[in-house]
Amino acid sequence: MNDRHHADVLIIGSGAAGLAAAIQLADRAHVIVLSKDSIDGGSTNRAQGGIAAVTGPGDSPEDHIRDTMRAGAGLCDEQVVRYAVEKGPEVIDLLMDYGLLFDTDSEATFHLTREGGHSHRRVLHVADHTGRAIEGALTQRALEHAGIEFLIGRLAIDVVTTGKLGILPDRAIGAYVYNRETDDVELIQASNIVLATGGASKVYLYTSNPDGATGDGVAMAWRAGCRVANMEFNQFHPTCLYHPHAKSFLISEAVRGEGGRLLLPNGDSFMHRFDPRGELASRDVVARAIDHEMKRLGADCLYLDVSHRSADFIESHFPTIRARCERFGIDMTREPVPVVPAAHYTCGGVLVDRHGATDVPGLYAIGETACTGLHGANRLASNSLLECMVFAHSAADHILGDLTSGKPRLPDAPAWDASRVTDSDEDVVLSHNWDELRRFMWDYVGIVRTNKRLERAYRRIELLKKEVHEYYANHHISNDLIELRNVILVAELMVRCAMSRRESRGLHYTLDYPHTLKRALPSVLSPSADPWDVLQPLADRRSRAKS
Ligand code: FAD
Ligand code: SIN
Repeated sequence: MNDRHHADVLIIGSGAAGLAAAIQLADRAHVIVLSKDSIDGGSTNRAQGGIAAVTGPGDSPEDHIRDTMRAGAGLCDEQVVRYAVEKGPEVIDLLMDYGLLFDTDSEATFHLTREGGHSHRRVLHVADHTGRAIEGALTQRALEHAGIEFLIGRLAIDVVTTGKLGILPDRAIGAYVYNRETDDVELIQASNIVLATGGASKVYLYTSNPDGATGDGVAMAWRAGCRVANMEFNQFHPTCLYHPHAKSFLISEAVRGEGGRLLLPNGDSFMHRFDPRGELASRDVVARAIDHEMKRLGADCLYLDVSHRSADFIESHFPTIRARCERFGIDMTREPVPVVPAAHYTCGGVLVDRHGATDVPGLYAIGETACTGLHGANRLASNSLLECMVFAHSAADHILGDLTSGKPRLPDAPAWDASRVTDSDEDVVLSHNWDELRRFMWDYVGIVRTNKRLERAYRRIELLKKEVHEYYANHHISNDLIELRNVILVAELMVRCAMSRRESRGLHYTLDYPHTLKRALPSVLSPSADPWDVLQPLADRRSRAKS
């Protein structure tokens, strides 16, 4: 084992956030970018609808701010929202400098699509594969840059901090990284480390996310001593393709933006019964309405119909979606598409400031793994790619300031110690635990929650945690073990945040507290706080209620 690498900045993740930060830093710093998959293996490459920014006539930053805050249900940080929205046009210019060609209409102005919760057409896009175009443009730029070194197929296990080595003041100084190809653990030392690891929706059985969305950034930050926030706000996308062989394929909200209607199995439309904005209500409202109707009718799926649009329109706006549906025998130009909700976006994450700085000096978090305050209790559609770009840049600027103020002398971190572990002969335990966790998270911590369901989930998580902890301490490390350990921890943080919220707000809806409290407070968890016993207070409340 024990390759050692050195860099000024280590960026963990090669999606929009990681690549944008790397490009910004690389003129003045040696940057290593890690990805556990291929460079384009994250969610960015899958993004369909587009990126929200104020560019159209009649639209204004104030309107974008208002829409974002309304979707966020009282929990957005207005200063952060304003900052991100005002940076939107700059981000679009930069992406075009990198060679991105957004769709235009006949007058050569941007073609803007519309998505739920937006009061204007505001979403710039490249047909229905905007993420692929952004990932491609950023990757090309990064690969051309001599200051950026890619290490692919490397899974960061944990951040090394001086505090953990008994040296104060605390600072992040590197990361242990599992090399999937050689099975070794390497050490990468850097004076600044950026977590850009994407979301955690793989905690759920059904998700639009790639397999690597296991919340590694949140788990690593927590273990390094950082606070996390708002982890109960898991966004479920209302419309994923329902087909036994379609592995969680998204049907973009832009389909509804261009007139697509949601239908019951008997062909009736229903969204107007739930919200005057109908199909274009914010995502939490639409997903809950679909969930409600599916449960009421005992239906396996509902339908999304855009067949009133011409075949030419559908082909030019939604070529990827049309082709995927066709592969499964569905002609969306003629018939409704069967759809179900699926876990899509993690609104909470590592608590950061405006520069992406976490509680641990030298450690940053950007993109979906971070909680900046932009999304509050529910992300407005297409604000995520915007957030990735904006906070990648503000973090990069901050890091450059840190580097020029004199590089800290980093103590040498010890090599990974695998001397006391053995090979496991029962890896089947890992796959069973994975399945169990994802299924009960879907059943008990899904679109509609109750105290009882959350308690059930919490108890099971505690059992899995113990089992996996023991496994981790005694056996050689593997990809599945690292991810399972992370996803269990992240599930615990989600449930703890959900249990501490005694109201329904945004994406967190519970039958036990259906109302929204007047005062909106984020749920913040700290690893340095006292051990947490969530079940006791709930049990007390129930016995009080009975008496
Ligand atoms: P990602 O792009 O997910 O990249 C994460 C990176 O981290 C990957 O390179 C991964 O390999 C790496 N990684 C993770 N853990 C480790 C580890 N332990 N070690 C090493 N590497 C690691 N948002 C919009 O704004 N508009 C849209 O139209 C849109 N459509 C979407 C459609 C789909 C199907 C999905 C799934 C999401 C969509 N989103 C959209 C959300 C948006 O795409 C993501 O939130 C955003 O791309 C996340 O970018 P990121 O850079 O934070 O992470
Ligand atoms: C979509 O195209 O529906 C996804 C947009 C988003 O998640 O922001």
